[in-house]
Amino acid sequence: MAETLFFEDKIIRLFPGETLLAALRRSGIPLAASCGGKNRCGACRIRLLSGSFLHDGKPLEISPETPADLNACALRQISAVGKAAYLPREDALCRCDLELPPLPSFPTYRRGTFIALDLGSTNVAAAIIQNGKICRCAETPNRQSRFGSNVIDRIAFAALPENFKRLREALIRETVLPLLDKLLTPDLPVERITACGNTAMSCFFAGIDPAPLGQAPFELGKVSFDLTAQAAGLDRFAPDLPVKCVPHLCSFIGGDVLAGISVTDFGSPQNIELYLDIGTNCEMILNKKGTFYALSAAAGPAFERNGSVHGAIRHLDFRENAWQLFPNAPSGTRLCGTALNDLLCEAHKAGFLDNFGRWIKAPGLPENLIPSEEELSELVTAKAAISSGLRLLFRKADISAAEISKVYLAGTFAFHLDISRAVYTGLLPDLPENRFLKTGNAALAGAAARTLFPETVQKTEPLENNIIHINPAEEPDCMHFFASAMKITK
Ligand code: FES
Repeated sequence: MAETLFFEDKIIRLFPGETLLAALRRSGIPLAASCGGKNRCGACRIRLLSGSFLHDGKPLEISPETPADLNACALRQISAVGKAAYLPREDALCRCDLELPPLPSFPTYRRGTFIALDLGSTNVAAAIIQNGKICRCAETPNRQSRFGSNVIDRIAFAALPENFKRLREALIRETVLPLLDKLLTPDLPVERITACGNTAMSCFFAGIDPAPLGQAPFELGKVSFDLTAQAAGLDRFAPDLPVKCVPHLCSFIGGDVLAGISVTDFGSPQNIELYLDIGTNCEMILNKKGTFYALSAAAGPAFERNGSVHGAIRHLDFRENAWQLFPNAPSGTRLCGTALNDLLCEAHKAGFLDNFGRWIKAPGLPENLIPSEEELSELVTAKAAISSGLRLLFRKADISAAEISKVYLAGTFAFHLDISRAVYTGLLPDLPENRFLKTGNAALAGAAARTLFPETVQKTEPLENNIIHINPAEEPDCMHFFASAMKITK
């Protein structure tokens, strides 16, 4: 007789020998599987509540008194009946030590209490603003992740109206509202909410179907991101509370980029400078003395496979024939994207990897930390997409990389990225380290600044009105540049 698994309010019948991940996904239960079921990324972790299982081939007894959180891809059920559930929301890491750039300073600011939101596809961050300053902020994992680790998967999943509704609920009810509950007292009167995100996340937030972003010509068309709390489903607030999403620059350059730029000095008509937001899509804007060029490179989730940098190994070093891990985490901890970039660099320098990122010899790392050939190829492909996108951007603007006086690196991934190793692998342009400026979560600070100071909104108007969008697919040398970037360069 087939084993039965009770998962949340669903009954799942398991095929003999099937992993819980396979059975749950076959039964339409969304569960992310960033590493493709290799028991590496932790994206498919669930809570076992009762039953007998095999975990990585070893027997495991679970009773309601001893629940266990484990990866569904490494689990098989052996008792007739088992019980499991998603990880409870309160187990999700909530960080309050965000890396934020300072807000600009203007003599007058809007009085009152405001909320800024950065709707990232991996994490969602919120800030409470009072008396012209950010007084509290925090970040929590985006609960949409179980439907897919990147926005491309989520756009595909949202094709059915009921799935779109589930994604929206996961964002609003399971992520944004609980995060705000942690930051707000019940009686605090809020004047307005300003949110920003990539274009797909803004669509999910505003209840707009993101399907056009997933199919040619990838144009969203005219939409309004001016909402009320009621329209956004934020039922904790007065129904008519104004809620605004920072507008996107184009389908693949979202309001998070515009917000982030608002809190930097990027955009001076005297300078040649670059703004980079590295994620599943790497959004890049080049300022050539007041003319702006924008390009979005589809890097894919290779550098985000293992989730956020927090709680993971962030850096690797290879010295005197030994690997050092930072932080030196217990076994089973994963390598996040910044550590994977270090690995490409250090393993190539030490002769473990060839120029195409293929293993030549065993690197001597713990087995669970060694990326497979397939994962390495995805990393090299991701960095090639970014590096060839930059080359196209520079060619279109008729500049060389050496002319760039400053590179603004936005976001958490870039904040923790080792610049010299990223230059070595070709992920970043070959420039001296002092020309790079890490901004941290500029998008959240930008949403806050745009709420407080009307001047900040005006500051990005030249950019919005004078921007040349480059579609890599329409550039004649796109494939040539991409193929020549499929190498570790030094
Ligand atoms: S899919 Fe299970 S750990 Fe990655």
